[in-house]
Amino acid sequence: MAVDLLLGLQWGDEGKGKIVDVLTSNYDIIARFQGGPNAGHTLVFNGKKHVLHTIPSGIFHEDTINLVGNGVVIDPVIFKGELDKLAEQNVDYKKSLVISRKAHIILPTHRLLDAASEASKGKAKIGSTLKGIGPTYMDKTGRNGIRVGDLELSDWQERYRSLADKHESMIEFYDAKIEYNLEELEAEFFKAVEVLKTLTFIDSEEYVYQAQKSGKTILAEGAQGSLLDIDFGTYPFVTSSNTTAAGSCTGLGVAPNQIGEVFGIFKAYTTRVGSGPFPTELFDEDGETMSRVGNEFGATTGRARRCGWLDLVALKYACQVNGVTQLMMMKGDVLSGFKTLKVCTAYKYKGDVIKHFPYNIDPENIEPIYTEVEGWAEDLTEMSDASQMPKALNDYIEFLEKELEIPITIVSVGPDRKQTIFRDK
Ligand code: GDP
Ligand code: IMO
Ligand code: MG
Repeated sequence: MAVDLLLGLQWGDEGKGKIVDVLTSNYDIIARFQGGPNAGHTLVFNGKKHVLHTIPSGIFHEDTINLVGNGVVIDPVIFKGELDKLAEQNVDYKKSLVISRKAHIILPTHRLLDAASEASKGKAKIGSTLKGIGPTYMDKTGRNGIRVGDLELSDWQERYRSLADKHESMIEFYDAKIEYNLEELEAEFFKAVEVLKTLTFIDSEEYVYQAQKSGKTILAEGAQGSLLDIDFGTYPFVTSSNTTAAGSCTGLGVAPNQIGEVFGIFKAYTTRVGSGPFPTELFDEDGETMSRVGNEFGATTGRARRCGWLDLVALKYACQVNGVTQLMMMKGDVLSGFKTLKVCTAYKYKGDVIKHFPYNIDPENIEPIYTEVEGWAEDLTEMSDASQMPKALNDYIEFLEKELEIPITIVSVGPDRKQTIFRDK
């Protein structure tokens, strides 16, 4: 069986966790392939909200295997915190959670390095979640990292010490006056590593290959969004992994010709948390309404998310780079009550009108060109069938489908699992 992908098409927080949870009943395995605890994936069901950071969003389904792939970076301390919360919910994760031996470990000093690097950047900071993501991927590509499989080796603590010592001298180099107590951080870290070691470590590329061969269905769950991709995002204001479709191949060991459906997920408007350009960002009442009604605060850091109109230039770019086959539109309910909606369909770029996403989208180069469409007043949150959707919402969806040339097969009208409307292709 081919591996299906579910990817965020904007700057993250599109609602990936919710939709993975909704789709999990169709899959035997849910697999994360990149990112780490910088992610915050929210699931809401039975009146309860759950936030996952590293653990795949299929974990609440008893018969589903949840796989943390080689492309993921794991902070044992945050991972243990997630496990503790699952235990409180009586989730039998030992049975359903497997971890790639090739996934890299985030050390306490990676987090400190992240903080030192950001502090040294001053105003030019990335707005990182400070989870140590950048430094850990740097050690991976620099061939210095410690992997999950290393924890099974007798000398791993010596390797740890030598890397952590190196990090300490790097932190000093930044001269960023970061205060920390490494002994305390290490005590917590080593305790969490022991918990991690009670889980099942696997050679995940072989596991995935055999699962595919025996007809098992697999959904790969992306983290972050395409505009945060290390290559195709708004560099340097990006994360340190490939968040796009290709990342699932390297992050799981799946061959490109084994990819099936590519589900692209987007909000009916746009949000961004952290620094970096955002052409359709709003600084007015409309932006405030999106923020308030959409409750736009980060699931990992609690920071306010910046809000703006839907940007079809950026969305089209993301669809192209990922080869999206089906779209899912989230948070349509948040736009109820806007008399008119604006959609950016082109950019004015250095005097020219362009329809592609250029190298540089800094505000001095880009002015969004908007098409106005009629809004809807109806409350969508109780709707469960496409036949109930107001005409203006249908028109909005059809307009987007025409522009993007891809069908929108799911419309989400609230955070709960049940607030999901399926549309025919
Ligand atoms: P993820 O990182 O892509 O999984 O998304 P997050 O969980 O960070 O952010 C999405 C937020 O929107 C969460 O608080 C969800 O509970 C919420 N959410 C998801 N879908 C909808 C929707 O259709 N309507 C509303 N109002 N909220 C939604
Ligand atoms: P999910 O999976 C939204 C952003 C950070 C910052 C930049 C780099 O929940 O959609 P990093 O910690 O990776 O060094 O931060 O990327 N960022 C996210 N924004 N959703 C996320 O994940 C994000 N993960 C990282 O805010 O701008
Ligand atoms: Mg999130």
